[in-house]
Amino acid sequence: MAEADVGAGSDPALAGARFLAMHPTPAFVARLAEGERLAAELRRVILAREAAGGGGLANSNVGGWHSARDMTRWGGPALDAVLGRARAFADRLTVDRQGRPVAVDWRVECWANVNRSGQANKLHTHPGCFWSGTFYVDDGGVPEAPDLGGEFEFFDPRGVGPLLSDAEAAAAAPGAPMDSPLVRPRSGMMVLFPS
Ligand SMILES: [Fe+2]
Repeated sequence: MAEADVGAGSDPALAGARFLAMHPTPAFVARLAEGERLAAELRRVILAREAAGGGGLANSNVGGWHSARDMTRWGGPALDAVLGRARAFADRLTVDRQGRPVAVDWRVECWANVNRSGQANKLHTHPGCFWSGTFYVDDGGVPEAPDLGGEFEFFDPRGVGPLLSDAEAAAAAPGAPMDSPLVRPRSGMMVLFPS
């Protein structure tokens, strides 16, 4: 559990008081080495699969195309490389309850989403998953044109906790905002998060 000084300033009543970050949410963002090359290759594979009518699902997608969850069978070498990086990151980011490295035999499920203008994935969770990950294959020009939207919005996961949030007030603790952080996609970028 992370702690920080309250910053008592001129108020002696707060001397020695500590903030406790009791439920911080770990998330991880990285631009992969060779990410743009892998993204370009995966873009080709995914669009070909979509064009061939490969088993789309109606799931979290609002419009768009959601492949079946069998992408490890057809994603090819570029997907293998991306999943290899994801495994390495997950290994690095996972420890036992004493904070020591731990070997996990990850079980992976993988699919593709294709969202064009006006399409998105709605708020959802991935029950039973320890880490979830997104690898952006094509940012659609969002970095140069932010008005296009398309951000990944992380909603507050703390059960009934978000009901206590207020549009005009938040805790004066470092790292404790009450809003929903946004991550703007970039081709070749990976995001890992608990969900
Ligand atoms: Fe999802």
